[in-house]
Amino acid sequence: MLDEQVQNALNAQIEMEARSSHFYLAMASWAENQGLNGTAEFLYRHSDEERMHMLKLIRFVNERGGQAAIPALDTPQSDFDDLHSIFSTLLAHENKVTASINEIVGLCLSRRDYTTHNFMQWYVAEQIEEEALARNILDKLGLIGKDSGGLYHFDRDLGQLDPEA
Ligand code: FEO
Repeated sequence: MLDEQVQNALNAQIEMEARSSHFYLAMASWAENQGLNGTAEFLYRHSDEERMHMLKLIRFVNERGGQAAIPALDTPQSDFDDLHSIFSTLLAHENKVTASINEIVGLCLSRRDYTTHNFMQWYVAEQIEEEALARNILDKLGLIGKDSGGLYHFDRDLGQLDPEA
């Protein structure tokens, strides 16, 4: 049986992953409407991945004899200034996700729930990748600045980039 505190923390994380998916979906839609089709592709895929992160948690909670809570979601921010603001917002959001994952890992140890602790290691590794990817994208945007040719190539390349790679 799943420890109640751990279950509550996992359900809060389910909501956070669902909000991430929703948020990146709004970013993808904004990018698509700006004609940034490569960026939109990347963000649509990123949104799908966040849904997968959410599903993985839902199924784990239920498999452990707990009860996964499916959250209601607010309308996400849907207007952005530019690509830099999109990816700096995304990185700030991922930093919060990482902090939340780390809290859960700490809670698992204090509740001696080693099974969930083991399960959460996948998320720990995933956050390292996601933060590094967002930082890398921001670095590239910094180099490009306002150069429209550079932005064209950036958008095209991002469309081919797998957020999981
Ligand atoms: Fe599922 Fe981007 O954290």
